[in-house]
Amino acid sequence: MSIFNVELKKVVDDSYDIEVGYNLSDKLVEDIETALAGKIKKFAIITDSVVKDLYAEKIYNSLIMRGYKADLFVFPEGEKSKTRQTKAMIEDMMLDKGYRRDCMVIAVGGGVVTDISGFIAGTFGRGVPFVNYATTLLAAADASVGGKTAIDTPLATNLIGIFNQPKKVYIDIECWKTLPPRQLYSGMAETIKHAALADAEMFDFLFENMDKIYAGDREACEYIAARNCEIKYNVVMKDERESGLREILNLGHTVGRAIETCSDYRLLHGEAVAIGLVAQAKLSGKLGYMTDEEITRLSALINKANLPSAIPDYIDREVLVKKLYTDKKVRDGKLRFVIEKGIGDVVCFGENLYATEISEDIAREIIMSM
Ligand code: GLY
Repeated sequence: MSIFNVELKKVVDDSYDIEVGYNLSDKLVEDIETALAGKIKKFAIITDSVVKDLYAEKIYNSLIMRGYKADLFVFPEGEKSKTRQTKAMIEDMMLDKGYRRDCMVIAVGGGVVTDISGFIAGTFGRGVPFVNYATTLLAAADASVGGKTAIDTPLATNLIGIFNQPKKVYIDIECWKTLPPRQLYSGMAETIKHAALADAEMFDFLFENMDKIYAGDREACEYIAARNCEIKYNVVMKDERESGLREILNLGHTVGRAIETCSDYRLLHGEAVAIGLVAQAKLSGKLGYMTDEEITRLSALINKANLPSAIPDYIDREVLVKKLYTDKKVRDGKLRFVIEKGIGDVVCFGENLYATEISEDIAREIIMSM
């Protein structure tokens, strides 16, 4: 018998820039013309049926005008499209149009688009580079930054995917103006999550400026766009692969993701997360980490953001309890939750340990109380 050691130690530099601003499509094309895409001349623009007309076509036309090969790959808008089937459909269309390894993927849209596009880019031809052009608050606050890519399965959201970092992220605040209000509110849930877990000042800012943000006030929107990024990338830079610290970005998602699936996507991601944030706050209160006043304040901010804080009647509570076990934080069949500490902090349960085991009975009690 022989044993061969295949030595493949790697030093990887996946650093990238996040550019936050207004009307950034010209900047994207300019970057492509300079260094962003290297020698690549072919661009697969992946987008959804709504964002295509609003923003993606403009990028497509600019690239064509400059002599690049580009194609739009479009799927129906909404979380229900974030499936293996959509991924396969786009991959087949890319192959049919002659895309091989010498291309770059440009994801133009919200979280569904950036999640699925990053996954496609990571597996197409065993990996091609991609950039995210985030057009929604939800993508700006969470999905487009940090390199988590995935599709949903009938069992639950985001169970199949890869860590794959983009070459650059563009956060175009101008695009928030065309968001349907419900989508804007949904993005606000991830913003509130960041404030709740890391920044009491941001929390107060949101309380005082929610109306301004929703009215498109430049300064207020720029502040939350920048602060969301800072909070998120500061965590991701320390724990890209979620071996510990990154789990804090899951605050509110244990119950939130389960509700999202149980609602059969009638609830938007952020709406489900908002309810999940209230659930974890109640749990935190039960464990002695949040006062009643702090829990009420979190619920009040969620309501101020036009987000729900109660579990809809149509969701079967027992089915929801069982759905909690699809959470990626589950270890050895045990539920684990990230727990907020006051406002603007989370509980650390040990060295690099930010989620704690919670019995099904306690989880059920919280869910039944909502
Ligand atoms: N959405 C949570 C994370 O990126 O880790």
